[in-house]
Amino acid sequence: MRVNGKNYHAVWMRENTVRMVDQLALPFRFRIKKSDSWEESAQAISDMTVRGAGTIGATAAFAVLQALLASSQKNYVKNCTHAVREIKKTRPTANDLFYAADSMLEEINKSSSFSGARQNAEKKARWIFESYLESGEKIGLHGNALLRKNACVLTHCNAGWLALVDWGSATAPIYAASRTGKKPFVFVDETRPRLQGAKLTAWELAQEKIAHCVIADNAAGHFMQKGEIDIVITGADRIAMNGDTANKIGTYEKSVLARENGIPFYIAAPLSTFDTHTESGKEIIIEERSQSEVLRVFGRGKHHTGEVEIYSKKSPAKNPAFDVTPAKYITGFITPKGIIKPKESEIRGLFK
Ligand code: MRU
Repeated sequence: MRVNGKNYHAVWMRENTVRMVDQLALPFRFRIKKSDSWEESAQAISDMTVRGAGTIGATAAFAVLQALLASSQKNYVKNCTHAVREIKKTRPTANDLFYAADSMLEEINKSSSFSGARQNAEKKARWIFESYLESGEKIGLHGNALLRKNACVLTHCNAGWLALVDWGSATAPIYAASRTGKKPFVFVDETRPRLQGAKLTAWELAQEKIAHCVIADNAAGHFMQKGEIDIVITGADRIAMNGDTANKIGTYEKSVLARENGIPFYIAAPLSTFDTHTESGKEIIIEERSQSEVLRVFGRGKHHTGEVEIYSKKSPAKNPAFDVTPAKYITGFITPKGIIKPKESEIRGLFK
């Protein structure tokens, strides 16, 4: 997608270097960070320089490739196995991280020689990267059909191109609608505590010149009640086979509010976010992040730019990064293969 009129991906790899949009610097600075080793790429996932399910997946694939390219013929299987184990420890919830790291290792293990492994792994990493681009575009195409002219869409967190390499999952239908002249309007949940909505989604939409406003997380119900929201679309980090969906904390309550107000609630996701090994949301591991993310916010002021505390350190905080929306609140999944109902048979049908 465009930044100051130039096209970018959220992450890409050239030679042995992974380049990524530094999401910690946005929206105040747009800068590209470089990583020359798998360790640095893994660190970028855990410190959220890159975040969002698909972008984490593509970064993980590139990191495994970096581990292979830094290995010798003698130690490459051992090195890559170790790197994959460590990469998978960076974040626990997004299925794409595990899917990408495991498929890279599988490709390396099944190759019969070192040079074959390098060739196959390079091909696989490129395929994973490109499948995110293609998925985003197809989700946009299918999701656009749900949006009328001037539709008002509510979204939560950032499920935009920064989170899916390009196009985004939840934002892809919005970008597609905008490019077909439908002039959508987007309500952007700020998404405490990391403010991915306010800092990333709003920034993306401004770059694409799409009309939007940022709302406090607790304002969504008010706008739904007033009839100002036509549809809710969010992304996902892991989707169980029964349709229960883990996404950024706060998604669950939006789904309940949408049901109460008779508003359709859709989840947009590539196939790599569906976890064929997880039957229901009860099995999904929810990442607990540091209390300091709740206590402190980063902002830009006239006299100070940086982190500030917003309440007394004497009070502890709890900080689950995701919650699970039960399938019963989901109207449908917008996938690259079309829109499906949150039913196990339809979900499993995606993989046939
Ligand atoms: O903790 P984050 O910022 O990585 O969480 C991101 C989200 O929850 C997104 O909404 C999700 O990854 C879907 S985007 C492809």
